[in-house]
Amino acid sequence: MMETNAKLYGDLSRILVTREEIAEAVAKLGKQITEDYQGKKLMMVGILKGAIVFFADLLREIDLPVMTEFMAVSSYGASTKTSGVVNLVKDITKDITGMDVLVVEDIVDSGMTLSYLKKYLSTRGAASIKIVTLLDKPERRRVDLTADYYCFTIPDEFVVGYGLDYDEKYRNLPDIGVLDPSVYSGE
Ligand code: IMP
Ligand code: MG
Repeated sequence: MMETNAKLYGDLSRILVTREEIAEAVAKLGKQITEDYQGKKLMMVGILKGAIVFFADLLREIDLPVMTEFMAVSSYGASTKTSGVVNLVKDITKDITGMDVLVVEDIVDSGMTLSYLKKYLSTRGAASIKIVTLLDKPERRRVDLTADYYCFTIPDEFVVGYGLDYDEKYRNLPDIGVLDPSVYSGE
């Protein structure tokens, strides 16, 4: 597992979820979504940038006609803690009236990002809005927000890899690991 990205893996205190575990969970989730969205107008909305890897894998496990859109929000900057203020940086480009929207996120932490996005999208006439997240950190929730689908519940530790970053780095690690606190202790 450590044969590639050796420099980046050195900053992890441990691997939390391996690429094999991720692939298995994503395939299972794709099958579930394929069943649940039969006959619906599925539009997957990926939240940039953390969800890109998960989004690309999940998309290919869905055996239905599906449209794709992306949104970007900012709340973190170069920090492991949310600023609590969510800014919309990039909006969707298509009309979502009548669509069954599935928002695809990398991780639900405080819940502020998704609660903001859900509220924002609900004013746009979608037939339904559901949330799918790869990771859920329930201990950190600051607002009442539950994902409709998730792959893994994780403890309150800062993780990177498989799309998740710290200061824009580590997104390219194929596994998910706990970032060693010494990397961000100067924060
Ligand atoms: P929330 O608004 O606090 O739920 O934060 C959600 C966003 O924070 C996610 O989309 C991630 O980009 C980022 N985030 C939260 N926890 C982590 C983590 O452990 N590693 C990397 N990014 C994280
Ligand atoms: Mg991020």
